[in-house]
Amino acid sequence: MEILLATVLAYLLGSVSFAVVVSAVMGLADPRSYGSKNPGATNVLRSGNKKAAILTLLGDAFKGWLAVWLVAHFGPHYGLGDGAIALAAIAVFLGHLYPIFFKFQGGKGVATAAGVLLAVHPVLGLATALTWLIIAFFFRYSSLAALVSAVFAPLFDVFLFGPNTIAWAVFAMSALLIWRHRANISKLIAGKESRIGEKKGAAQ
Ligand code: G3P
Repeated sequence: MEILLATVLAYLLGSVSFAVVVSAVMGLADPRSYGSKNPGATNVLRSGNKKAAILTLLGDAFKGWLAVWLVAHFGPHYGLGDGAIALAAIAVFLGHLYPIFFKFQGGKGVATAAGVLLAVHPVLGLATALTWLIIAFFFRYSSLAALVSAVFAPLFDVFLFGPNTIAWAVFAMSALLIWRHRANISKLIAGKESRIGEKKGAAQ
């Protein structure tokens, strides 16, 4: 029962799209109406408002972190272990991708996955974030940085902790994240992907 409750709550938390909420609160256009149409920090940055993009990034990362941290911290009191943590990780991530509050049309999961990984273990989160930063610094594509990081995250997990239950959740998140970036992959191959910081309309 507790595991079901934790999973449902994680999904609901993930369903809060900070790109949409932050943009609405700050009086900005809905990120689903411009650029890549993706409700995520990268697309909010295309509005030209860096503060809104940073708040979106922090909000989406925080909800991922919180869902996993809560289960990891309080779960043991209710007999919940790594299986429940793995389910909460997947649930908060799925909430972001398919939010119940936004007609199941959510984002691509990069910031939320980062929060999840940081909560699973800070070293795992930081190693993955560093991978994102290195690729973003050299290539200036947010999507490429996310794709490379998604490939490395499960590898980092297994390298750091050996085969474990949560690694399956990390692997599943990476697979879903790559799937959600399929339009970006096509644009990268065609040389039509917009670079970080390019303004509205740059990514169609
Ligand atoms: O965080 C999502 C990013 O990897 C790609 O976003 O808006 O360029 O499709 P976008």
